[in-house]
Amino acid sequence: MNIGFLGTGGIAAPMVEALAGKGHDILVSERSAEVSARLAAQFAEVEIAPNDRVVADSEVIIACLMADVAPKVLPDLPFREGQKLISVMVDVSVEALHDLAAPVTDISVTIPMPFIGKGGCPLPVYPDTGSVQALFGAENIVLPVTSEAALNAHFAASALSSVVLAEMVTTADWLAGVTGGAAKAEAYVAALIAGYFKGMALDGSGEVKGLLDALSTEGGLNATLRDRMAGARNELTEGLDAFRPRLGLPDA
Ligand SMILES: NC(=O)c1ccc[n+]([C@@H]2O[C@H](COP(=O)([O-])OP(=O)(O)OC[C@H]3O[C@@H](n4cnc5c(N)ncnc54)[C@H](OP(=O)(O)O)[C@@H]3O)[C@@H](O)[C@H]2O)c1
Repeated sequence: MNIGFLGTGGIAAPMVEALAGKGHDILVSERSAEVSARLAAQFAEVEIAPNDRVVADSEVIIACLMADVAPKVLPDLPFREGQKLISVMVDVSVEALHDLAAPVTDISVTIPMPFIGKGGCPLPVYPDTGSVQALFGAENIVLPVTSEAALNAHFAASALSSVVLAEMVTTADWLAGVTGGAAKAEAYVAALIAGYFKGMALDGSGEVKGLLDALSTEGGLNATLRDRMAGARNELTEGLDAFRPRLGLPDA
């Protein structure tokens, strides 16, 4: 498959890594010079090209631009019938994509995470045209959703990632403040959290809730800290709700 990336930044790079070595020819925008040069040096099948060639020479185009850049860049590119477009961009609606990339009609939006290069990435997709599954389905978890609002709610939920990472950094910093060993503190916190999720059933069968219930002994350290931080969970819900107008979600 000939695959082209518009935008070669933080999320395009791991997507290229996910596709490399699988028999594809991959073009990447001549932007983010350091990233595109690294990808071209690392993978024989990756070539750097101007945006118009990325589009002209690709069967599938993956748009990894910021939302304010997309309307300035996409309309001038030589899209044609029969191509497929996958967008990973928040704040660019499916309707807008149809206008910006006309006459392409096979358009889907998905939400990759920076670890997609390692596989196991959940990929909500709307509308599901099959192209996300065809390119990424073998190593990742493609989750078709039934509406654009549902997809956008997943964009909101994906922001939990940095909240969890920030809590881990705070805990590691606190631990290092007592022990004096920053690297060992980070290693401990990383292994602690990774351990809980190793081998977890990813089928929504309630395992996360089960793990939490098992850490609820009254007066224990887990339940005590969690009770102390109940306000933070209210703030999390409020923060997610605050995305509703921006993402076109119904009121709570
Ligand atoms: N990062 C994530 O974890 C993540 C996850 C899911 C979805 N997304 C979505 O992915 C999109 C990109 O995010 P990102 O984090 O990858 O941002 P980023 O690192 O800033 O990447 C944006 C890329 O667009 C390039 N660009 C700017 N103007 C361009 C132009 N005229 N032609 C071609 N390329 C151009 C930038 O190049 P220069 O560096 O040269 O300006 C850069 O390579 C966003 O819409 C975001 O919502 C990101």
